[in-house]
Amino acid sequence: MPHAHEHAPHHDHDEHTELTFAIVTASSTRSLENDTAGAALESLIAENGWTCLDRVVVDDNVDELAAAITRACDELHANVCLTCGGTGLSLRDVTPEATCKVMDREVPGIAEAIRAYSMGITRRAMLSRAIAAQRGTTLIINFPGSERAARENWDAVADQLEHAIKMTAGGGH
Ligand code: MTE
Repeated sequence: MPHAHEHAPHHDHDEHTELTFAIVTASSTRSLENDTAGAALESLIAENGWTCLDRVVVDDNVDELAAAITRACDELHANVCLTCGGTGLSLRDVTPEATCKVMDREVPGIAEAIRAYSMGITRRAMLSRAIAAQRGTTLIINFPGSERAARENWDAVADQLEHAIKMTAGGGH
């Protein structure tokens, strides 16, 4: 399996920050029990010594998704809200639209990095409409719905999350 990291110019592993996460899975068929992508992300968060505050499964529906993302940001004050699924080309896929509806501003480089990394694994990555954005001090990132794809997306961004959240809190570089 190719690793985009091998070609990255440099890494910054100089910091360790306690990060909090909320996971919002978009699915009309899955429940908490068989949300394998969300569960895998919860494990990865714990493996990194971070905290998952909440994980929910909501219907593929703009208003329900927007409400769940807003709760993660405004009530839970998660540093990072990861969404799973609903980023493809099916007309039911509305997670990017829900994210747009509640975001303050987009963070395009994160979605660009995920697609660039993922294109080295599967050319189907070009079919992702995922976006990343900020609402308040929460960073929202759309991931795909399959467990394998969600793990690959995690690999694409995990090493930059601490720095991203430090900058969000006003720490600069
Ligand atoms: N990204 C990675 N890293 N690995 C994958 O297998 N699958 C793609 C894409 N991104 C994939 C990926 C496919 S097939 C689709 S349709 C889109 O993600 C959207 O997935 P979603 O509808 O589950 O959100």
